[in-house]
Amino acid sequence: MNTVSLALTPHETALLQGEGGEAARLSMKIIVRMAEILNAPALQEISQAHIDGCGLLSDASLQFAETMAGHQARCAVPTTLNMGPIDLQHWRDFDIPQEYAERALRQGKAYEDMGCLPTWTCAPYQGYLAPRFGQQLAWGESNAVCYANSVLGARTNRCADYLDLCAAITGRVPCYGLHLDENRQGEILVRTEEVPHEWWQDNTSWSVLGHLVGAFAGERIPVLTGLPTSASSDQFKALCAAAASSGGVPMFHAVGLTPEAPDLESCFGGRAPVATKVIDVAEMERGRADLSTAGAHGKLDEVFLGCPHFSVDEFRQLAELLQSQPEGGFHPRVGFTVTTSRATDAVVRSSNFHAILARWGVRVTLDTCVFHTPLMRKSSERIMTMSGKCAYYAPGELKVEVAFGSLEECVRAAVTGWVPPVGGR
Ligand code: F3S
Repeated sequence: MNTVSLALTPHETALLQGEGGEAARLSMKIIVRMAEILNAPALQEISQAHIDGCGLLSDASLQFAETMAGHQARCAVPTTLNMGPIDLQHWRDFDIPQEYAERALRQGKAYEDMGCLPTWTCAPYQGYLAPRFGQQLAWGESNAVCYANSVLGARTNRCADYLDLCAAITGRVPCYGLHLDENRQGEILVRTEEVPHEWWQDNTSWSVLGHLVGAFAGERIPVLTGLPTSASSDQFKALCAAAASSGGVPMFHAVGLTPEAPDLESCFGGRAPVATKVIDVAEMERGRADLSTAGAHGKLDEVFLGCPHFSVDEFRQLAELLQSQPEGGFHPRVGFTVTTSRATDAVVRSSNFHAILARWGVRVTLDTCVFHTPLMRKSSERIMTMSGKCAYYAPGELKVEVAFGSLEECVRAAVTGWVPPVGGR
């Protein structure tokens, strides 16, 4: 039941009364109803949106996008797009029915017609328009939400599909949750001091940590201690994606690393943590093993990388590893696919390492992800990945066995054609 009355500004009232056009009226009506359900006392002005609702294709999603575009909707704030249901440029290279592709293209066009920027990526924080500290956002996509709140110190709840477009059109969201100071404090403590320092150089350790933290935290905000200040954007990306998969972590603090975590006391606002977990070597090994469902030494069918979308530096590391392998290429049975954004792809294509990736036959797909488009061969039974998120979802979503390992292990397995034993870290 509603206990708080919602106060609207004159501009918000005008939009609700249709003075900004039909799309803005509809959007404001939905935002206001959501605010009432959430007991939000006011709406929050935002300065950026990231649309997740563009990733699924259904009759309803297409109708929603085309209806809004048909009403001449325009984004009121800079708005980026998460991945889409197909590789919009190269969909013919995959086993995608023409009719499905045409509907996906129509949906993509509707979003772009409304002024959304065709970024088509689930790692928007690594590209154009990365938010700055304190910026209020309406972002969808769980890994991006976790990264924006934690690593950048921007402020967003996990904006629901379709509400994200309403927010982009009105420049407003219900003011609750992580938009407010009081809801951004740590709730649980996770200590990592017992993990050997050098393990953090391996990006997969961050995925494993995220997997463990997500399972422990659920939707609570964890405060992490003991992590190295050298943490890279790709490492935080791996942590966020895994923590928002095994759990629903919308934000974390890493003491001494993330912008709202200068020290332990400020993270908790002077309160004591409600629970504490110590992550040590045994826990990390358990978490790593947990991400693999494939037994060692099974035949490998495919490697999938880029969940979240691969960065330029990850491509560079991949090229270096490929160059260090004996010539001969991947095992003929093994497919090797990387998903990324078109912006990253453009940089990689102009790099001096692109020729190595091309020579090895690395298949690069843009705009989409393995869970939304048929990238995997129907005959594949066993895949390998360095992504905690991909490893977590693949057994259920793709009905395959998964081996989780480092980038180097993925490359070696693709060359030999066999799943390696689960590593010691
Ligand atoms: Fe991105 Fe798809 Fe993974 S949206 S984070 S590649 S599940």
